Amino acid sequence: MNLILLGPPGAGKGTQAKRLEDRYQIVQLSTGDMLRAEVKSGSELGQQAKAIMESGGLVSDELIINMISARIDQPDCQKGFILDGFPRTVKQAEALDAMLQDKGMEMNHVIELKVDDEALVGRVTGRYTCAKCGSGYHDEFQKPAKEGVCDKCEGTEFTRRADDNEETVRSRLGAYHESTAPILPYYGSKGVLKSVDGMAPIDEVTQQLYSILG
Ligand code: AP5
Repeated sequence: MNLILLGPPGAGKGTQAKRLEDRYQIVQLSTGDMLRAEVKSGSELGQQAKAIMESGGLVSDELIINMISARIDQPDCQKGFILDGFPRTVKQAEALDAMLQDKGMEMNHVIELKVDDEALVGRVTGRYTCAKCGSGYHDEFQKPAKEGVCDKCEGTEFTRRADDNEETVRSRLGAYHESTAPILPYYGSKGVLKSVDGMAPIDEVTQQLYSILG
């Protein structure tokens, strides 16, 4: 099963993708995570992407399309994948269609997480991640059972993303409305788009996704 999770920054794409990975045994492909790994490694791509990401803008379509195409060719994608953060422009959506056709693959589900803009800034600025295993938490909405200790790996070091400050989140939201929201009618006109209420609590959103995916 291959699917796309669409939604603005903080909609819950990453949170839900991790749960779907476990349930359906398919891999999460987050272009944001891939880019952050490139930035960390100091690669040429990472150097090009760093300033753009810190300003909340979008990295060039060409770089992203090549990166995701190479990733989909990896053996672990054969059982299926969840695209999180891609496509983000109509050009990327068109390139994805062509890419899947070339690779003899198909997209089974495109699901939008609908969330009000006002909720997003608080979600993103309150987010933090276990430095050891990458599990995601939130200061208010998703605390670990024991304060300061990761539920999954018992790690005690946590990190916050450089672009999770209010100013950058507002730029990311602007980029979403300008460049990414137009892909909703693109998939809508193909009749494959479904929506879930991303304002619901995390577990309820997961249940809505399970009922679509079976
Ligand atoms: P990326 O990493 O993709 O960031 P994003 O799209 O802004 O999405 P986020 O990771 O911020 O949000 P999310 O929806 O995953 O939310 P989460 O589940 O963590 O991209 C970063 C940058 O990379 C971009 O700005 C761009 O520069 C570049 N980039 C990436 N892909 C690109 C592409 N294709 N083309 C060009 N450039 C690209 O949830 C957020 C918080 O809310 C968490 O703390 C969580 O606990 C909490 N939460 C989640 N759901 C709920 C809920 N239902 N109720 C309450 N709290 C909730």
